[in-house]
Amino acid sequence: MNYDKETYLADLRFRLDDYRFAHSVNVAHTCRELAKMYGENEEKAWYTGLLHDIFKNETKENTLAFFAENNIVLTDCERNAPKLWHAMAGSVYLQKTYGFDEEFIRAVRYHTTGRANMSLLEKIVFCADFISAERDYPGVDDMRERVKISLEYCMEEGLRFTIDELVNDLCPVHPDTIHAFNDICLLKRFPNGKKE
Ligand SMILES: [Fe+2]
Ligand SMILES: [Fe+2]
Repeated sequence: MNYDKETYLADLRFRLDDYRFAHSVNVAHTCRELAKMYGENEEKAWYTGLLHDIFKNETKENTLAFFAENNIVLTDCERNAPKLWHAMAGSVYLQKTYGFDEEFIRAVRYHTTGRANMSLLEKIVFCADFISAERDYPGVDDMRERVKISLEYCMEEGLRFTIDELVNDLCPVHPDTIHAFNDICLLKRFPNGKKE
């Protein structure tokens, strides 16, 4: 794939505020570091990280209109979780506009929820989003240490944090998040893949 860096940066500059633009560049850099550490294509990881939040600053109205234009039907859970919309809409936008491959698109699509059987690239973007340079929430240092041990060890805590927060606020948990969490738990208990 020939990436068109200048075009993507101009698109992001147009769509994102300064904070989100800086976050995107930081996630790109973290993705490249993790790709180097875990043996993924560094260039692809950098671009996936760069573009993962491309719809993050869209208004609810625009995003709902985008779903309608593209015949995307939301589940009840998705309709009630606007935080997930930018990943769903962004992935479709990126595929239609730039023709990235399925793996790239899935890494954008699932960077917020996770899912079962995530690829290496998906795990890298998921983790990078939690630990990018500007992140400063309590516990971020622990996450940065965890990712050095394994992507799954970092994801475990990220998913726990996400699920905890949703349950505390009595918000529905997307089934993909539950599947991602179960996957990681089972992997820990059955590292050789034997679940019986
Ligand atoms: Fe995001
Ligand atoms: Fe992000």
